[in-house]
Amino acid sequence: MAIIINKDIFTIQTKNSTYQMKVDKYDVLLHAYYGEKTDNSDKSLLYYQADRGFSGNPYPIGKYDRAYSLDSLPQEYSGFGTGDYRITALRAQNMDGSQVVAWKYAGYGIEKGKYAIPGLPAVYAEKEEAQTLIIQLKDIDTGLEAFLYYGVLEELDIITRTVKITNQGKSDVILQKAASLQLDWEYGDFELLSFYGRHNMEMNIQRQAIHHGIQSIGSVRGISSHQYNPFVMLCEKDAKETMGSCYGFSLMYSGEFLIEVEKDQIDRTRLLCGIHSDNFQWILQSKESLWLPEVIMTYSQNGIANVSKNMHTIIREHVCRGIWKKKRRPILINNWEATYFKFTGDVLINIAKEAAKLGLELFVMDDGWFGKREDDNTGLGDWIPNEKKLGCTLKELSQKIISQGIAFGIWIEPEGISEDSDLYRAHPEWAVKIPNRKPCLSRNQLVLDFSRKDVQDYMIETISNVIKESSATYIKWDFNRAICDKFSNCLAADKQGEFSHRYVLGLYRVLEKLTSVFPEVLFEGCGGGGGRFDAGMMYYTPQIWGSDNTDAIERLSIQYGASFGYPISAMGTHISAVPNHQTGRITPLSTRACMAMAGTFGYELDIATLTAEQKQEIKKQIAIFKKYYSLIQFGDYYRISSPLEGNCTVWEFADPEGKEALISVVYHHVQANSIPVRAKVYGLKDNAMYQLSLQKYNEKQPEKLPYGFHFGEVISGIALRQIGFVVPNAVDDFQAWQIYIKEKRP
Ligand code: DGJ
Repeated sequence: MAIIINKDIFTIQTKNSTYQMKVDKYDVLLHAYYGEKTDNSDKSLLYYQADRGFSGNPYPIGKYDRAYSLDSLPQEYSGFGTGDYRITALRAQNMDGSQVVAWKYAGYGIEKGKYAIPGLPAVYAEKEEAQTLIIQLKDIDTGLEAFLYYGVLEELDIITRTVKITNQGKSDVILQKAASLQLDWEYGDFELLSFYGRHNMEMNIQRQAIHHGIQSIGSVRGISSHQYNPFVMLCEKDAKETMGSCYGFSLMYSGEFLIEVEKDQIDRTRLLCGIHSDNFQWILQSKESLWLPEVIMTYSQNGIANVSKNMHTIIREHVCRGIWKKKRRPILINNWEATYFKFTGDVLINIAKEAAKLGLELFVMDDGWFGKREDDNTGLGDWIPNEKKLGCTLKELSQKIISQGIAFGIWIEPEGISEDSDLYRAHPEWAVKIPNRKPCLSRNQLVLDFSRKDVQDYMIETISNVIKESSATYIKWDFNRAICDKFSNCLAADKQGEFSHRYVLGLYRVLEKLTSVFPEVLFEGCGGGGGRFDAGMMYYTPQIWGSDNTDAIERLSIQYGASFGYPISAMGTHISAVPNHQTGRITPLSTRACMAMAGTFGYELDIATLTAEQKQEIKKQIAIFKKYYSLIQFGDYYRISSPLEGNCTVWEFADPEGKEALISVVYHHVQANSIPVRAKVYGLKDNAMYQLSLQKYNEKQPEKLPYGFHFGEVISGIALRQIGFVVPNAVDDFQAWQIYIKEKRP
């Protein structure tokens, strides 16, 4: 039993963690504990209460107990205007204009299995794999109710959280802020790990002490954004990869979000995750409900790597869906960096033909195949093939490509609309803009109003036709701008605050429909690279193009950052041409392959222009990737050395049973008299013996390395874990090595 109820104490036990809440004598739901696994006894008894002064005491309790204040009590889900002056989970305006929500515990329920959320992505599980706890809170005066949902996947150390807000009162309530998760810590000295970035340079990690005051990250861009990712960790000050207390929080939401942390006057910490409150105002009429997006939560006392591992497993196995979840994804070639907009049908067929000869499995036709789309100024919205450019119909083109022995995939950007498009001329009211104002352009395009049902239905039909006509088995769903001028012609003036969330709900509806009508199609998400790289999108698109930056060295840090919260199987990675189009850097083909193998692995260059030797190497890369595919996709991932320190990035994929591992090493540059880089190998069996071998890509790679490890020797798992081995040195800038470690039975 993962959920244990003892009178007024609710305890959730997972394999290695415990979570506890308690209803106090005044019917307030307190947060009692979340952390290392412990017993079911009342942890709130260990808390200390005192009269803090200037902290409000609820009526009439304040007459006889000045130590009781919501301002200093750890609560499970706070209201507003009740004497708690910290950041609050829910703020609402009542019909009389007052802004107060005072929650009281009102009951609970337990269900078998994991709850689902109507219209929103959520973790799913078999009935016997999960349990759900629902706790009801109520504001007695207004009738507003909050149903706190806890999905417990005991074996995976995962607890999911969401809230359903219901108005049981007679009058409207205006929600102004509604977080999905609140977590209060009574004590602890934490650091916040978050991920910031920009287009072409996503997922930079930052680790900052939680200081007095409020720290926050978020997005008001309509998309989860390149700038901040909706995944964070809270770690004890001295926590490292394999030691220390760490918490992970992944908001399954692809729109505007806010993650806030406050350290208060008495050093208590509060975390909130949910929809951003800036552009949010939701009118809840009597009897109406609003479901909030889900947060996936995990804890480990054994360091950051374990939190990552739990996040990887839950997203890979219980968020990603469909036939591609377990199946090996096709190794693709995308024509974007090979041609950009300048191609003809014959050019594409030629790339596909060359690619098929090397063993590539899927050809993806990127932007520029439709309407009058010769550059990024026109045509978005006109999903009608440009037959003049292609030299034939879409159906004929895809057949010609498929007949080369390679599958066909296609790029779309359904949420974009160009002013210069037939769709815009026919339906200017479908574009997101404020009446009588000129809208903000970005990439010279506007946004289609996905909050509208007619737009959603039109896109479902249009994209279905594209898929059917092209026999595509892969769709790249791109979105190349952030949203502003937030306004929908379909919403009344007082409902415009609902636009941003309704847009995301509309997007999810379209994706849900298309992915269920075309279950055999692999959808890859993309937001100009990682503009919408979040667990919400991964529910529909099991992989997402990680960044428009394809430089192998820059990708090291982008992929390093992404690995903290997201599985390797979700990271779209390609080998592109050199000099690299974003940075001009020249890296060896083997280094680009090593980097791309820390993701979905594909190509994005003009194969026809490569030398015979390079083509041979590509054939070999494909064979190597297939050989290690299961290890990469389903193995446990460890960050061994960071791209942000030293001159070498090292990472590992370990077989969950400890039978084998693959170590990847990429040097940032060659150094004179360099300091040896030591790789400690995790996830092996201490008492088993292992042999190390160097994975060769081409004949130029030396048989014997200048110095470093002697391959072929047999070493124990415990020695590899405790002492590690020195990785081969670099003799050139940007050199990469892969070292395969296999159990050797006596
Ligand atoms: C942005 C994507 O990230 C690129 O890969 C490419 O598809 C372009 N859009 C096409 O416009």
